[in-house]
Amino acid sequence: MHEKIKQYLQEIEDISIEGEKEIEEFRIKYLGKNGLVTGLFTDFKNVIPEEKKQVGAMLNKLKTAAAEKIEQLKTELGSGTGTVAAGKDLTLPATSAVLGARHPISLTRKEIISIFARQGYTVAEGPEIVDDWHNFSALNFPPEHPARDMQDTIFINKDPDVVLRTHTSSVQVLTMENNKPPIRIIAPGRVYRNEAISARAHVFFHQIEGLYIDKGVSFADLKQTLLYFAKEMFAADTKIRLRPSYFPFTEPSAEMDISCNLCGGVGCGFCKKTGWVEILGCGMVDPNVLENCGIDSTIYSGFAFGMGVERITNLKYQVKDLRMFSENDLRFLSQFETAF
Ligand code: PHE
Repeated sequence: MHEKIKQYLQEIEDISIEGEKEIEEFRIKYLGKNGLVTGLFTDFKNVIPEEKKQVGAMLNKLKTAAAEKIEQLKTELGSGTGTVAAGKDLTLPATSAVLGARHPISLTRKEIISIFARQGYTVAEGPEIVDDWHNFSALNFPPEHPARDMQDTIFINKDPDVVLRTHTSSVQVLTMENNKPPIRIIAPGRVYRNEAISARAHVFFHQIEGLYIDKGVSFADLKQTLLYFAKEMFAADTKIRLRPSYFPFTEPSAEMDISCNLCGGVGCGFCKKTGWVEILGCGMVDPNVLENCGIDSTIYSGFAFGMGVERITNLKYQVKDLRMFSENDLRFLSQFETAF
């Protein structure tokens, strides 16, 4: 019996085990119902009385040793009650955490804002639900004017009209009403139009509006500001051209094209062989708008411009279908810069 106890103690001491299953096998072998240690306890009744005390103590020691070994092995495997994962190879490479990526629209918005921030513009924001005054009337859209139809407005309430803003120009009005010139703001935000959803149109998209009001602001300032933007956003050799256009709130108004950044202006499928792609609308703020917002148009002048963030993103990353931006498909989203 002495010999057996010693032998088992040694075996228990020496055992090294890899998996949880083996630990359980080990437990059954020694401490299970028919286990070796349990067997010794059964044999204990045959031990002669003089030796009972000594053998009893040895048996208890053996049982404790087996139980402690099991606990130790479990701890090493990380599944025991212990807190230290001793024996783990801490030099193994860790499984990396899955990182999110910035949404391409956010990336573009951030870049546009930073380009204008370098020219002294600060970010202004406004609500997405606005009254008729901020979306239309203050911006020189007379009632019944056909330009209102162009915007495919989504109405929340009729009479008095409350709408989902159709453009970020509503933030121009809000800013001019609440601030004195000089004003130099950039207003990023989501806008809504009642369009059939397709690869080229959606019911919501994002715009960035710019507004600069001061004494003596001219069209030349507008052109230079936008040229700087185009070169910073796309490439140093990007060219711009301004085509006359119409917006009720600017006079004169223009639409700006940039030389196609895919073909370098030679002509390709993307620019429909013209070498140019349209990216924004702009113009000198109409004096009526300044007056509507409490700014003296005989002293101050200014320019405004507005661009679609999706459009700029398409140009930068060649995303062909607008719907990709709102479908949250991780295969698409994870292709952009990670957030951290
Ligand atoms: N608000 C115009 C649009 O949504 C864009 C624009 C903004 C044009 C500012 C001129 C000046 O189409």
